[in-house]
Amino acid sequence: FEGMTIDELAKRTGQSISTLQTILTNVGEKVGSEFDTLSIDIAELVAMEVGVNVRRLHSNEGTEILPRPPVVTVMGHVDHGKTSLLDALRQTSVAAKEAGGITQHVGAFVVGMTSGASITFLDTPGHAAFSAMRARGAAVTDIVVLVVAADDGVMPQTLEAMAHAKAAKVPIVVAINKCDKPAANAEKVRLQLASEGLLLEDMGGDVQVVEVSAMKKTGLDNLEEALLLQAEMMDLKACIDGPAQAYVVEARLDRGKGPLVTAIVKAGTLICGKYVVVGSEWGRIRAIRDMAGKSTERATPAMPVEIEGLKGLPRAGDDIIVVESEERARMLSAGRKRKFEKDRLMKIMDGRVEDPETEP
Ligand code: GTP
Ligand code: MG
Repeated sequence: FEGMTIDELAKRTGQSISTLQTILTNVGEKVGSEFDTLSIDIAELVAMEVGVNVRRLHSNEGTEILPRPPVVTVMGHVDHGKTSLLDALRQTSVAAKEAGGITQHVGAFVVGMTSGASITFLDTPGHAAFSAMRARGAAVTDIVVLVVAADDGVMPQTLEAMAHAKAAKVPIVVAINKCDKPAANAEKVRLQLASEGLLLEDMGGDVQVVEVSAMKKTGLDNLEEALLLQAEMMDLKACIDGPAQAYVVEARLDRGKGPLVTAIVKAGTLICGKYVVVGSEWGRIRAIRDMAGKSTERATPAMPVEIEGLKGLPRAGDDIIVVESEERARMLSAGRKRKFEKDRLMKIMDGRVEDPETEP
């Protein structure tokens, strides 16, 4: 919701005006008439206090709506060549440097295409243990590239990735990789995918399929073209001049710098020095760096950046919102912590203990 009056909030939450006024007084807000408008932050805080789940509807406060680059998440079974494919696209060698050759976190990169366009890629792990990371990867992206090794075919995490994309209503572009191998059988992969319900383009559906080899660097132009075509059909746009809405791709603790968050801006512009609330954490953005490590003052839509300055470690998938003051940031963060803790206890009491923190 947007900012609203106490009267409206009372109707929406089913609480009496006096209950809401008491909460407002408790959080230190000046209470006027029930027709005074509350800011969105305060309204969220009060709603949480009475146990109502809130979802912010972002009105685009900015006015300049411009095309933005697509965010593309690469998914598929372990070892099918996701990282190698990204390496081939951006001419690096991340895959070779990974411990045990397996990806264990989400990577974000901007790749400049030969056409001059750019695409933001997220790499995800294929190992069975990282299902939650794949689910989040699908939830935050515009397009999923489903990588399937031509010699291995459709495997459990191929199907899992398809399911995540479907759940998130994100279109898939299939990249059949390792086509250089003698045992490669792209036709068989097509049939397997079709029998799993994927409507491939060459069979009359609208899912594009390209054959590639990350090793021999073949088919990469076709993949770029397929992705840009898919993006074009989606007509991706974002407001760039309003306050930022962004989300966490990954968060880690650095000994010297404290919590470091890899984030992608959805809309608006993220600016250094602003107060933010990230999930239930808060902070003031002290530094913004692009994925090459270069400091920048601001980040625009689809740009992956690393931000420094949070007080605690948020979780991947958390929303990042900009608030106007430190006081607001602290208050909202504390309110969300209380709400999350309450929800957690409720779940435990319901016997539905499912702790997402146990992911490796
Ligand atoms: P996870 O992130 O652990 O799920 O693996 P991944 O999908 O990122 O696979 P990765 O890129 O690490 O590649 C796995 C292995 O396949 C490596 O040994 C690569 O060298 C090899 N490989 C990747 N692409 C190709 C290809 O096109 N052809 C051949 N022959 N080998 C490839
Ligand atoms: Mg990988």
